[in-house]
Amino acid sequence: MSKNSSVSKAFAAAFVVLTVSAITGLVIMIIVYNTEISSMNPTPRPTFPSTTAGPPPDMRLPKNLRPQSYKVLLWPRFYTKIIEEVNVTSPNQTLLFTGNSTVNFHCVQSTSSIYLNSMWLIVANPVVMNKDTNEKIGVSAVNDQQDNSIFLEVQLNSALEAGGNYSLSLDFSGEISEFLYAIYVSTYVEGVPAHEGDTNTERFLVATNLEPTDASRLFPCFDEPDMKATFNVTIIHRRDTKALGNAEQSDSNIIDKEWKYTSFHPTPIMSTYLFAFTVSEFNSISSQHDRVNIQTYARPEAIAAGHAQYAANITGEILKFYESHFEIIYAQTKLDQIALPDLEPTAMENWGLITYQEGVLLYEKGVSSLLHKEFIAMIIAHELAHQWFGNLVTMKWWNDIWLNEGFANYMSFFAVDHVEPTFKLKDMHMMNNLHNAFEQDSLASSHPLSPPQGDIQTTSDIIQMFDSISYCKGAAVLRMLADYVDKRVFDNGIKMYLSDLRYKNSDQNDLWEYIQKAVDEDAGHTEVAEMMNTWTKQIGYPVVTINTTNGEVYQKHFLFNDSSESSLSWFVPVRVMSNISAPTVLLLKPGKIENKDEFLSTNGEWILANVNCSGYYRVNYNPENWERLLTQMEKNPHRIPVMNRGQLVDDAFNLARAKIVEVTLALNSTRFLRNEREFLPWESAVRNLEYFVLMFDRSEVYGPMQVYLRKQVEGLYNSQNQSEVPTDHSSQHTQIIAIQVACSNRLPECLEMATEMFANWMNSNTTENNIHPNLRSVIYCQAVAVGGKEEWEFAWNKFQSSSDTSEKDQLREALACTKKIWLLSRYLEYTLNPEMIRLMDVASTINHIANNVAGQALVWNFIRAHWEYLHMWHGPELIRGVTRRFCTQFELDELVKFSIEYYQSTATRRAIEQTRVNIQWVSQNKDIILQWFERETAL
Ligand SMILES: *[C@@H]1O[C@H](CO)[C@@H](O)[C@H](O)[C@H]1NC(C)=O
Ligand SMILES: *[C@@H]1O[C@H](CO)[C@@H](O)[C@H](O)[C@H]1NC(C)=O
Ligand SMILES: *[C@@H]1O[C@H](CO)[C@@H](O)[C@H](O)[C@H]1NC(C)=O
Ligand SMILES: *[C@@H]1O[C@H](CO)[C@@H](O)[C@H](O)[C@H]1NC(C)=O
Ligand SMILES: *[C@@H]1O[C@H](CO)[C@@H](O)[C@H](O)[C@H]1NC(C)=O
Ligand SMILES: *[C@@H]1O[C@H](CO)[C@@H](O)[C@H](O)[C@H]1NC(C)=O
Ligand SMILES: [Zn+2]
Repeated sequence: MSKNSSVSKAFAAAFVVLTVSAITGLVIMIIVYNTEISSMNPTPRPTFPSTTAGPPPDMRLPKNLRPQSYKVLLWPRFYTKIIEEVNVTSPNQTLLFTGNSTVNFHCVQSTSSIYLNSMWLIVANPVVMNKDTNEKIGVSAVNDQQDNSIFLEVQLNSALEAGGNYSLSLDFSGEISEFLYAIYVSTYVEGVPAHEGDTNTERFLVATNLEPTDASRLFPCFDEPDMKATFNVTIIHRRDTKALGNAEQSDSNIIDKEWKYTSFHPTPIMSTYLFAFTVSEFNSISSQHDRVNIQTYARPEAIAAGHAQYAANITGEILKFYESHFEIIYAQTKLDQIALPDLEPTAMENWGLITYQEGVLLYEKGVSSLLHKEFIAMIIAHELAHQWFGNLVTMKWWNDIWLNEGFANYMSFFAVDHVEPTFKLKDMHMMNNLHNAFEQDSLASSHPLSPPQGDIQTTSDIIQMFDSISYCKGAAVLRMLADYVDKRVFDNGIKMYLSDLRYKNSDQNDLWEYIQKAVDEDAGHTEVAEMMNTWTKQIGYPVVTINTTNGEVYQKHFLFNDSSESSLSWFVPVRVMSNISAPTVLLLKPGKIENKDEFLSTNGEWILANVNCSGYYRVNYNPENWERLLTQMEKNPHRIPVMNRGQLVDDAFNLARAKIVEVTLALNSTRFLRNEREFLPWESAVRNLEYFVLMFDRSEVYGPMQVYLRKQVEGLYNSQNQSEVPTDHSSQHTQIIAIQVACSNRLPECLEMATEMFANWMNSNTTENNIHPNLRSVIYCQAVAVGGKEEWEFAWNKFQSSSDTSEKDQLREALACTKKIWLLSRYLEYTLNPEMIRLMDVASTINHIANNVAGQALVWNFIRAHWEYLHMWHGPELIRGVTRRFCTQFELDELVKFSIEYYQSTATRRAIEQTRVNIQWVSQNKDIILQWFERETAL
């Protein structure tokens, strides 16, 4: 899946409000994983399955039966439209669905109970057959009555024999969800309402979203990823609608004046969580591909307006790229993508029927920003990669979900670069990915990439695995391995892995085995499993410390909280260069202090390790070498690779955060920015200073800090012509960040420009908006922040009347930028009304407001007051958002109290840990930082 856009949007907004930037590329990765993450919790689950759910000893199905094929019929009874006519009684909408299924399975070990997964379904008429003899087997009881049980138990009069083949048929019924889980209804408006209250333009569609464990809410099934089977599906649906499934349609016909059926060819052998169907009135356009019929579906109006064209343009190209890169053709002859008005996560890779939030698939020329276009490419590349990593080869169990998500992220770097080479996004995406991973993995509460199977049992355990560790650390360690064994060798291993394990399940040992094979074939010497297990089975990552005076090097577990004792260590591939020598690679072994000539500076030259940031670790140096590196960057930055200019800043700030170096070193590392014109170093500084903003924007440090940043950014800002948008993407990113930093630090020429652009829009009599799409986010936010009720209402009206998702998102974000408390407070209330703020946007909207210093306290009160309603699908995200500024004992006490009384969870535990770190950090650093900024700005 692709994770929660809401968070990402939240992040973006947050950044804008603060000093920092939201940014583009950056945010994209965040989006990808958060999207998937948050999407995972979204569903209001009235109750989680209790651990005492049923007779099996744990939450797993017994292994005595293996499914082989299903035949499933599903019949959602809803209407896609309800037209009111004079003198005609119109029907009521209905959320009922019914169905029946037969599962054929093989018995591995004799048993007289069949266990399947089934939740909230009413099940009837079980029939069990012996397929070998064609005899019926008597059913003595069906047990699905326990509350919240995730199991359905069918007890038999006689035992099933090991080696035998059987089938189980059932009828079932359930309810279509209004909250975006399992099988759910999504709504939109088609055309223009004739008058107020006219509901004739309302449209409804049904879609599914089953990862990780919601297939069991759609039909009783063996709902575990290694219980793969084929599915023959028939959907009964209204005559004026179209049904899509995983596989190609085989047959469709009219049943009566209301209904028709559509049947599909058997799916490939696949996991239940990849099952999907939709019923809608959508239209489609096709993509170029010589073998696969690729269709992109969206609302008829969106298709007619050409908004799905960009997605259609790149999808065929990306699919071809993967086919040739993996040397395995896509496994089906059709691939549908559909842009849904409602979906959480951002996207889901269902085999042959990928679902997307419509905002991330639709692109409107002249309205959507460049960032939006990049995001579309990124998400499509991520989901298509899953058609191999996840769909064709699936992890054995959810503890190895990184094999899905890490690979999808990693492969998307290359696919996007291939399909949009002029975007030059690869470096940006990789850096962004690295930083997302570092952020979570620097806490003692992080988890291993691949925890033991037994640790991941309940749905809530599984959902928590969809985080930046699985997505981003997963991709980062793959990149490190590829760089170390050579990308060509790595790619060969991957090809063998995919080809040998297709239609099967794998764990990470399989992956190491295949890469080892490729290494051996290439006469390499890397012990892949030995090296990689240190990265996947342990939490965290190291900081490599180099003393260039004597060439000494050692590693230590990097943690923000230095009081956490840890003796973990890793096999660390270190790529190193100096100003007189080209890069070379060497491998540090766990646990030892070593002396290496490569790290020795004999003539006062600087040494740089982790060249191009291909390694998943941080680097610290002796003070003399730091000094030389920073001096080099101030004098002639180009001697240091641009990724490393960003990373030196990032390492300095994070080492300071962990109290390994002085905070003044971190601040010194931003001096060179005054003459820096590249995006990555700026992005790095801005992102790191965001922590300073969060900690200090309620204190006296903030004034001098803004003065300093104005001074630093002035050169960059004035080097650009803000009335024009540059043509190449990388300069566009730089322009955006320049405006964000300049405006949020109140550079007068920037504020003037933003206010003027917005006023022109407000005062123009046409609906035309002349603000360039790239700049809208920042201009809207700044103008709303500086303005009052009038600007806010104008933006709100535009938000409500716009039908373009990306425009709506930018406005929704900007509305949170006002400094007027009453406006923020009213805006918060709006989030409780799904007609004003869609359910999928609730968390991100609240987090946008929390990111505004003026709104943060309001939000903390608001979410506590409405916790009952909000926590069900947004708990972790809201906690993360609202506690980001917490740095006082009082806030910590409140948070602890809240966690005890309302919400004990990983999210609150992490927030508590982070708040403790913040408190300590502020008390130790505030005075020094204040002095540094005062000194620096007095010059
Ligand atoms: C599914 O359909 C295929 C071909 O249409 C057929 O051969 C197969 O037996 C069907 N499987 C089930 C479980 O009905
Ligand atoms: C609706 O029904 C009423 C009463 O039967 C009738 O008088 C009226 O003309 C009808 N209106 C229309 C538009 O058919
Ligand atoms: C719609 O529901 C209402 C209230 O439940 C009921 O009175 C009415 O008869 C229903 N209409 C139809 C057409 O079923
Ligand atoms: C499944 O349901 C459909 C529609 O109600 C029905 O036509 C069909 O006979 C049912 N199949 C079985 C095996 O009961
Ligand atoms: C899609 O591709 C066509 C043909 O290359 C091109 O003319 C069109 O501008 C592209 N559309 C978008 C939205 O990128
Ligand atoms: C680096 O090594 C030199 C020589 O052994 C030593 O004097 C110095 O203290 C070391 N520096 C650090 C930061 O450990
Ligand atoms: Zn994914």
